[in-house]
Amino acid sequence: MTTLGTGSRQWTMVDEGWGRKAVDFATLSEPGNCREYVAMHHRLGVDAGDRLLDVACGSGLAIELARLRGASGAGIDASARLVAVARDRNPGCDIQVGDMNALPWDAASFDFVTSFRGIWGTTPGAVAEMHRVLRPGGRAGITVWGHLKVSPGAWALAPFRLAAAEKVGNQAVMVSLGRPGAGEQLLESCGFLDIERTEVPFAWEFADPQLYARALAATGPAYEAIQNVGEAEFHRAAVEQAQGQLRSDLPLRAEIKVVGYLARKPEGE
Ligand SMILES: C[S@@+](CC[C@H](N)C(=O)[O-])C[C@H]1O[C@@H](n2cnc3c(N)ncnc32)[C@H](O)[C@@H]1O
Repeated sequence: MTTLGTGSRQWTMVDEGWGRKAVDFATLSEPGNCREYVAMHHRLGVDAGDRLLDVACGSGLAIELARLRGASGAGIDASARLVAVARDRNPGCDIQVGDMNALPWDAASFDFVTSFRGIWGTTPGAVAEMHRVLRPGGRAGITVWGHLKVSPGAWALAPFRLAAAEKVGNQAVMVSLGRPGAGEQLLESCGFLDIERTEVPFAWEFADPQLYARALAATGPAYEAIQNVGEAEFHRAAVEQAQGQLRSDLPLRAEIKVVGYLARKPEGE
C-alpha cells in the first residue's frame, strides 16, 4: 500500500519502505496472511505440476504454500530484501527483483498468476502484464482490501493514518479496487473473462501489543507513518491501539475484509 512504486522508475524506491525490516515482515507479518493464500490457491485449483507466478510476492510465503500443493513457483517483488527471503524460502525458484508493470517473462509462461494485496486501483499496467504472461485458459487470482470501515479488525490498520494527509489520501485511492464493480471493470478491460468476486478469509493474530506494533512497523504504509511521526511515536500509538483490544487468555485478533477476484484468460488468445 505504499505510494512508492506507481511511477516509471519509482518502483526502485519501494525497498526503502518494504525492505527495511524484511526479517520482521517475513516472520511476524506475512504469516498472518496465510488464510488468504490457502483460500485463493484452493479456489483457483492450484495443483501438482502447475506453473504459478506470484506478483508483488513479498517474502515469498504464498509461493512456498503453492509449492506444497505441487506447483512450481515464480515471483517478482520490487524489494530486493524481501526477494532475498523469498529465494531463501523457495530454493531454485525463479524469483526476481523488478517492477510488476513490466514482467520479465514471456507471454503464456504460467498456468496461474496471483497477487495478494499487491495490485491496486493505481496499477492497471500490472493487471495487463498478468494477462500477457498467462497461457490461454490460465487463471488469475487477485486479492485487495475490502470494506475496511466495517471490518472488526480495522483497528489494526489505524496507525497507518499517522502518515502525512496526502499519503493517507493516496492509500485510500490505492485500495479502491475493493469497491463493487471496480475490480471487475479493470479485469475486463485487460481482457479477462469469467470474473468472479469472492470474500477471502483474513485474520491477523498477535501474542501481545508489542509484537503487533513490531509486525506492523515492518510494512510499507507503516514506513510512511514513521516518516511523518517517527519510529518511537508510531510504536507507542500502535501499542496503545492494541491495548484496547486485549482479551483474557486469547490472542489479539484482527479480522479484516479482503476481496478476491478470480478470472480467466480466454482460450485461443
Ligand atoms: C501489501 S504487500 C504484499 C506482499 C505479499 N504479497 C503479502 O501477501 O504479504 C505489497 C508488496 O508490493 C511490492 N511492490 C510495490 N510496488 C511494486 C512494484 N512496482 N513492482 C513489484 N512489487 C511491488 C512491495 O515490495 C510489497 O512486497
